[in-house]
Amino acid sequence: MRLFPFGTTAVANGPALINELRNAPDDAFSFAEFADKARYTISPALKESRYHVPIVRTTLTRNLAGLFPDLLDEMNSAFKESIFNLDGLKDGEWKSIPVHRNIMELVCRTTNRLVVGAPLCRNKEYRDLIINFTIDVAKSSMFINLFPTFLHPIVGPILSQTNKTQRKMLRLAGPLIEERKVKLAADKNYADKPNDYLTWILEDAPPGFEQTTEGWAIRLLQMNFAAIHTSSATFTHAIFHLATQPEYMAVLREEIDTVIESDGWSKASMQKMKRLDSFLRESSRLNAIILTSLNRFALRDYTFQDGTFIPKGNFVTASLYSLHMDDENYEDAKVFKPWRFVEMRENGEEGESVKHQFTNTSVEYLSFGLGKHACPGRFFAANEIKAMMCYLVQNFDVKLPDGVTERPTNQYFGTSVTPNQTAEVMFSRRKRV
Ligand code: HEM
Repeated sequence: MRLFPFGTTAVANGPALINELRNAPDDAFSFAEFADKARYTISPALKESRYHVPIVRTTLTRNLAGLFPDLLDEMNSAFKESIFNLDGLKDGEWKSIPVHRNIMELVCRTTNRLVVGAPLCRNKEYRDLIINFTIDVAKSSMFINLFPTFLHPIVGPILSQTNKTQRKMLRLAGPLIEERKVKLAADKNYADKPNDYLTWILEDAPPGFEQTTEGWAIRLLQMNFAAIHTSSATFTHAIFHLATQPEYMAVLREEIDTVIESDGWSKASMQKMKRLDSFLRESSRLNAIILTSLNRFALRDYTFQDGTFIPKGNFVTASLYSLHMDDENYEDAKVFKPWRFVEMRENGEEGESVKHQFTNTSVEYLSFGLGKHACPGRFFAANEIKAMMCYLVQNFDVKLPDGVTERPTNQYFGTSVTPNQTAEVMFSRRKRV
């Protein structure tokens, strides 16, 4: 029996169904087919090849410790050369800053130091292109999805901005791609070969379209699409929590100052900051980037163990929101308890420590997805966001603007969640005692 019209999304609720969805084979519920929804807004190439995924999951993650100094170098100058520079401010004076857009700038520049390197990561036109690209993709896919699937091949190309964006990307990044391609062809270990994402995709691209300047430009756009808004939103949500309850600053500061003083700035130091890790996991539990996770497309009929029948041609997803807000899974689930996970780590049994870390996925925690398609960039993202939180906590005091008592409300576009786009937070130079 067909339960719903072709193209409907079924929502799996609760750990048991979500576990079954996670374990279902790709020939039943396909991630790539779901991702192909972006064929008009990003590119059909992403269905043909997903060679970037192991590069993000393995090469980037393995290189994190070695590349951490580059990330810090860019982050430090990005903070100093942006609206977050409070140098002119007197002690105790506050400056109001619209957070989300400025955090996107910081994250975009810092991330791209490891994606394309300097100086391109500092090019304002390049950064604007990337930041606006994600917004364009979200908007145009919302419009495209208002039409029935059989009309997408017609309305998709009309409503999407992707051709214009790709042309701009080719103009901005094309010369760098060409230059590196020529150098690699002459000598695959040429002197000063950058160790970054662009080099890795130049080395690993499968033959054909992927080995063209256009193919590489699309992979750069796609990587930025996956990385920038997700990390910026996560960091902004954490800032909103801290500004709403600045009493948590002292605890974070104690941990961060102690670790940095004894171990310096490194990936290993980030690992040691259990309170910071817990703060970010809790903030992301309440403010994940999506209301539903594990989006898949049914390539064949599938019957869940509880009898729920999903006909071929429909979408399936997992309800993240109800899972994260359920008192059965989290005591006082709607309350922000920043030390919730560090307490679980400390009070739990052996092995529990890893289970409650920021980057750990489970049937109770879906902010990074779950199973074989869980976010491969989460280890990078966690380290980058932690480094930025450390910078913030070490250098600034934060609070909500005068007269504002509530945390800025989140905004929703379909199932996407973003931090409040316009909300401001007051920043002041840290009072040294
Ligand atoms: C806090 C920041 C981030 C969040 C919350 C996040 C979240 C997610 C989620 C929910 C998924 C879908 C997983 C699923 O359906 O099971 C995903 C996939 C993905 N993410 Fe992230 N992400 C973040 C940062 C990043 C970064 C920094 C990168 C790249 C460096 C990245 C690269 C990807 C890629 C390539 C996929 C597709 C995986 C596949 O095709 O199997 N993400 N991410």
